[in-house]
Amino acid sequence: MKLQGSVVFVTGGASGLGEAVVRRAIADGAKGVTIADLAEDKANALAAELGDRVLVLNTDISKEDQVAAAVAATVVKFGCLDITVSCAGIALAQRTLDREGEPASLPNYAKVIGVNLIGTFDVVRQTTSAMAKNEPNEEGERGVVIMTASIAAFDGQVGQAAYSASKGGLVGMTLPLSRDLAPTGIRVMTIAPGLLDTPIYLFAPPGLKEQLSKTPVFPKRLGRPDEFAKLVAAIIDNAYLNGEVIRLDAAVRLPPK
Ligand SMILES: NC(=O)c1ccc[n+]([C@@H]2O[C@H](COP(=O)([O-])OP(=O)(O)OC[C@H]3O[C@@H](n4cnc5c(N)ncnc54)[C@H](O)[C@@H]3O)[C@@H](O)[C@H]2O)c1
Repeated sequence: MKLQGSVVFVTGGASGLGEAVVRRAIADGAKGVTIADLAEDKANALAAELGDRVLVLNTDISKEDQVAAAVAATVVKFGCLDITVSCAGIALAQRTLDREGEPASLPNYAKVIGVNLIGTFDVVRQTTSAMAKNEPNEEGERGVVIMTASIAAFDGQVGQAAYSASKGGLVGMTLPLSRDLAPTGIRVMTIAPGLLDTPIYLFAPPGLKEQLSKTPVFPKRLGRPDEFAKLVAAIIDNAYLNGEVIRLDAAVRLPPK
């Protein structure tokens, strides 16, 4: 498939990696791009800059009815839905036991799983139901889904039990989703980013970003959001990529903390 002429549904499209995908899709000639995000002001500012091929829908991906409304509004506005790029996610760090030996908050754990794993599955299930109505292209493709995991799925650090479990869940479901959706002509891929320079580090402790930027093997810097968007475009373009997870990480392996 191509970004050009496609309708793209981007969760978390108001910021960081999702924003880079929205920009890339518009630059590559997408017919329409939906930003499904909680950050309505940022999404509206981006849409004002990029023009009327961008549709902003205030959406919490952990709310089934809001995802359903966003998918329906996308199809009403652009006529169909071809590509889903799921970037919305949260990171909530907590150690399993705190310094006093008190156990971690279970609601916090459930919140991370609810957004990152269950919310993403809901987005996949509801957007692919719309894609199933598409006419297949010459390869038999009706759509492409790209989920965003993290290298924390493999090298989770101290305090990341919930985040790593949520992202590991995306890694684990990539192959079965691609098998489920193969008869419909929909491919499913997952990107596991390493350390990419986005607003995710805005609230990090002072100096952490500088420290992290020295850890990749080569190139020795944080990744750029447009490098994520380039990989998204390559996956969409290449019909033989399916059911796989790609690390985008300059060979970094995260230490315990
Ligand atoms: N930046 C990195 O280094 C990095 C590394 C590994 C994985 N990731 C993953 O990449 C994805 C994007 O991260 P980013 O760095 O661009 O962060 P970001 O904070 O810049 O963007 C995340 C976006 O998701 C939106 N969002 C959060 N919860 C939502 C919800 N329930 N419903 C809808 N939208 C919601 C936020 O409003 C925000 O616009 C996340 O899933 C993150 O876990 C990022």
